[in-house]
Amino acid sequence: MRHIKANRYDDFSLTAAELIMNQLKKKPNSTLGLATGSTPKGMYEQLIKRLIDLSKAVTFNLDEYVGIASDHPQSYRSFMEDNLFQHIRVGQTLIPDGEAANLTLECERYEQLIKQHGGIDLQVLGLGHNGHIGFNEPGTPFSSRTHVVDLAETTRKANARFFNSLDEVPKKAITMGIETIMEAEQIILLVYGEDKQEAVSRMLQGEVDEQFPASILHEHSNVTLLSGGVKVLN
Ligand code: GLP
Repeated sequence: MRHIKANRYDDFSLTAAELIMNQLKKKPNSTLGLATGSTPKGMYEQLIKRLIDLSKAVTFNLDEYVGIASDHPQSYRSFMEDNLFQHIRVGQTLIPDGEAANLTLECERYEQLIKQHGGIDLQVLGLGHNGHIGFNEPGTPFSSRTHVVDLAETTRKANARFFNSLDEVPKKAITMGIETIMEAEQIILLVYGEDKQEAVSRMLQGEVDEQFPASILHEHSNVTLLSGGVKVLN
């Protein structure tokens, strides 16, 4: 695993944006896997500033809540529209449909779409405090494909800051599975901020354990961990 360390959030965000822009320079019709959360917001701002053109690319988001409409202000569709898609030229932007009548079929459909597009060239990931990637909570089998999850209480609490109350935070989501994520050709794991200290330290210990989903990334041959605002020893 390659490890790039940044200090300030601007440097962190710019470095992340450059990794994406390099990929698009190599292959304008890349298939990009995108993430939500506070961490990648600065990266999206940098991409907008640099007039990134995704018109030939296809994007797949990692996850989406179940039980809120796609135009709900806190849906991940809204997040992506607000923080990136509305501001740039985009091609196809795919996000799991958390309102689908049959969620199992929706998960299968999403997997098929990824396959049809030849898999993901570059996947961006954030890191949950408990090591989750996408919404794959601790204990999720490493062999999982896109599936419906019950969100951990800690995850719901962490995300409650975006809703009026904890009650409003959805209890379920659709997420790409761990195996789906691991099939991406290249992965960037973004970790920023003191509150991620424990998670990043555990990540760097190197032990691969289903109780800490992100640890599987040690078994991928092309991962860049980009950390910032945390103390790291190696
Ligand atoms: C959320 C998302 C993840 C994200 C993570 C960290 O629950 N489902 O995809 O990476 O939590 O979010 P943040 O960057 O806000 O810490």
